[in-house]
Amino acid sequence: MSFIEIKHLRLIDTIERVGTLKNAAERLYLTQSALSHQLKELEARLETRIFHRIKNKLVFTPAGKELRDAGKEILERLEVLEGKIHEINKDNIKDYIHGYSDEETIRLNDQAGSISEILHWDSKWEEGSLVLEAGCGVGAQTKIIAPMNSRASFVSVDLSSSSIEKAKVAIAKEDIGNVRFQLADIFELPYKDGHFDHVFVCFVLEHLTRPMDALKELKRVLRSNGTITIIEGDHGSTYFHPDSKNARKAVEAQVMLQEKRGGNANIGRELYPILSDAGFNSIKVSPRQVYVDDSKPELLEGFIRNTFTAMIKGISEEALAQKIIDRDEIDSGIEDLYRTSNGGGTFCYTFFKAKATKNLVP
Ligand SMILES: C[S@@+](CC[C@H](N)C(=O)[O-])C[C@H]1O[C@@H](n2cnc3c(N)ncnc32)[C@H](O)[C@@H]1O
Repeated sequence: MSFIEIKHLRLIDTIERVGTLKNAAERLYLTQSALSHQLKELEARLETRIFHRIKNKLVFTPAGKELRDAGKEILERLEVLEGKIHEINKDNIKDYIHGYSDEETIRLNDQAGSISEILHWDSKWEEGSLVLEAGCGVGAQTKIIAPMNSRASFVSVDLSSSSIEKAKVAIAKEDIGNVRFQLADIFELPYKDGHFDHVFVCFVLEHLTRPMDALKELKRVLRSNGTITIIEGDHGSTYFHPDSKNARKAVEAQVMLQEKRGGNANIGRELYPILSDAGFNSIKVSPRQVYVDDSKPELLEGFIRNTFTAMIKGISEEALAQKIIDRDEIDSGIEDLYRTSNGGGTFCYTFFKAKATKNLVP
């Protein structure tokens, strides 16, 4: 048996990240004396010191540095392994309609980038706050909201380890330092009650079979008077010129397919009532319409083609397999959606952004 246990590696890694034993104990939900006990136990087993205290600072000894570096690698590998097993087991993952392909990664980034101003001009949280981003995917929204709130800290979680890995790379590439990623399920968050100051959720509730349970879990980890911000689409808000029966059918096919999986592609219009039923207060919903015509070439490309039509294209094979629509209808529907971006067309879609508060005392 090894003298070094995973809990020791996690301890050292956390101390390194948060700087003090007190903060590390809080982060690991341990008392400070339990944490010191574990450290002493490890030092006794290895017959060496791991840290020196120099002017109230913890400084790694050479043995401590070895432990820290090897431990980091082992913990990362464990996280990837747990994620893979999680994905094999999780029904939720199987139910996620858009899947986790490279095309979907590109689409999520196009979506976030093309409409960032419309969705995020007011995505601001106060200095020093801790924000949970639930269902961060490949970090497409994280890349926008984290630098806008450089004095806040983000914990961004998702059920998909492959998405988390992509998100980590994207955030490192942009040199964004205020985000920590973690594999976690919205329905069973590994955080204590009231842990976060704010919660942010974007394009996630529409995919869940039990959005109300998710909201209750998010409310649990939110502190009193903390806020939740939710952004969701509503495919029923889609209209365009030139109009096309098959394009409308193709959009409806996506709505039906999502419904079959237990989701709701028209959830945007329901944000107020579900937040209210989940017990949130001071709910404000603001519709964010994306309107595109020839004067907005970046949206013709980024939104109509690369976000919306790419999404319908992405589900077309499954809609066919489920006999929701036939081949001619979906193919010509997709062609007609593209046509709205080919000169002379227009396109409208409405997202809904809701902000609400958890008030323990009304
Ligand atoms: C459409 S993507 C949105 C990603 C990101 N918020 C964005 O806007 O680019 C939905 C994400 O929700 C995640 N998700 C679905 N069910 C989840 C659950 N139960 N817990 C955590 N994440 C979940 C999926 O893995 C996926 O990454």
